Amino acid sequence: MNSLDFDFYESEDPLWNPALLTIPVPGIRKMVNLAATMDDVIHLSIGQPDAPAPPHVIQAAVDALEAGQTGYTMDAGLPELLEALAVYNNARYGRGISPENILVTTGATEAIYLALTAVSAPGREFIVPDPSFMLYAPLIRMNGGEVKYIPTRAENNHQLDPVEVIDAIGNKTHAIVLNSPSNPTGTVYPRETIEMIVQEAAYRGVYVISDEVYDHLVYDNREYASVLSCCSDLDHVMVISSFSKTFSMAGMRIGWMIASQGAIRKLRRYHMFTTTVANTPCQWAGVAALQGERGFIDRIVETYKQRRDRLVQLVEKTPYLEGYIPEGAFYLFPSLPDGVNGSNVALRLLRETGVCTIAGDTFGESCRSALRISYATSIDNIEKAFERIIPWMARQDFG
Ligand SMILES: Cc1ncc(COP(=O)(O)O)c(C=O)c1O
Repeated sequence: MNSLDFDFYESEDPLWNPALLTIPVPGIRKMVNLAATMDDVIHLSIGQPDAPAPPHVIQAAVDALEAGQTGYTMDAGLPELLEALAVYNNARYGRGISPENILVTTGATEAIYLALTAVSAPGREFIVPDPSFMLYAPLIRMNGGEVKYIPTRAENNHQLDPVEVIDAIGNKTHAIVLNSPSNPTGTVYPRETIEMIVQEAAYRGVYVISDEVYDHLVYDNREYASVLSCCSDLDHVMVISSFSKTFSMAGMRIGWMIASQGAIRKLRRYHMFTTTVANTPCQWAGVAALQGERGFIDRIVETYKQRRDRLVQLVEKTPYLEGYIPEGAFYLFPSLPDGVNGSNVALRLLRETGVCTIAGDTFGESCRSALRISYATSIDNIEKAFERIIPWMARQDFG
């Protein structure tokens, strides 16, 4: 633990709300900070697209700034963006979503924060896949909710078994968190999985909170099953997405939530007490992204697919790593042999070869023997990284 972590976790200063203790030691930051002190590091740790946003999207933000669009928007979001999001989602999922079903947020992160902290409370249980994006469990626990993890496994492509999820629903279950395509596994859930979970949840009065930020990054012409295309109404769902991954706009911080009008009205108030509104010029960039030419998406999907294919081949050749074919996002979450400490492996791999990956335990409790490898980087970098990883692994004795 470095001194910064010590301040955060061990300080007895009564100033701080003990709920902050639910925020785990940030595994990603630890690795990236160490990497920053080293030379010649190859990052397979990146959680954002490596290309800039399309030029017309950037231009729309510049134009908005030059036109003096520097004030607050309406609290739910820029009306033009709410309208464009309704049109876009209705065309994509064949629904009748209206602008009143949408809240524009500061990235998907704010929407996740609003959703989880607004519904989590002591005595409520949340079903969460393990591994999963590291925000969910701490935000649930911070407000007294409990997390029931459903482990997924590399030998099963980290697919979530809908029967396991349904069997886990009990009297205390309040919501189920889904994330397809998944960070950190890249797994895309088939329509049957989403339908079974969404239908049973609605029947039992359980919410489904679905993080769909990688909704366009799906390969091999697979169909993408959004919760929005699997629910009969919006009464028990909150669907979250953003421009960050699809349009390489992570730093522009525009996301959204789609839910029932009642839920959106509640969350609008909460949103005003957290971030007020999302960034105005970048909301205009969002309008341009949705209404402009979208060939960009096809091009990045093809690029990510080629990288994925090469990464899968290289992982197959690597001693001690068990991979699979991830169908979406830009991550692979290979297993190490049972009992091998993934955190030590990631740290030693960085120190001894200069390749930065993220340890599995950053993403849950059942995945200490795993690494997250990101392919949001060039094929050239991926090749060079494995020229270091393969001989290093071959020298280990993980028995
Ligand atoms: C699964 C998942 N959800 C949400 C986010 C955050 O997205 P945004 O940049 O829109 O806040 C990320 C970013 O890595 C992510 O991987």
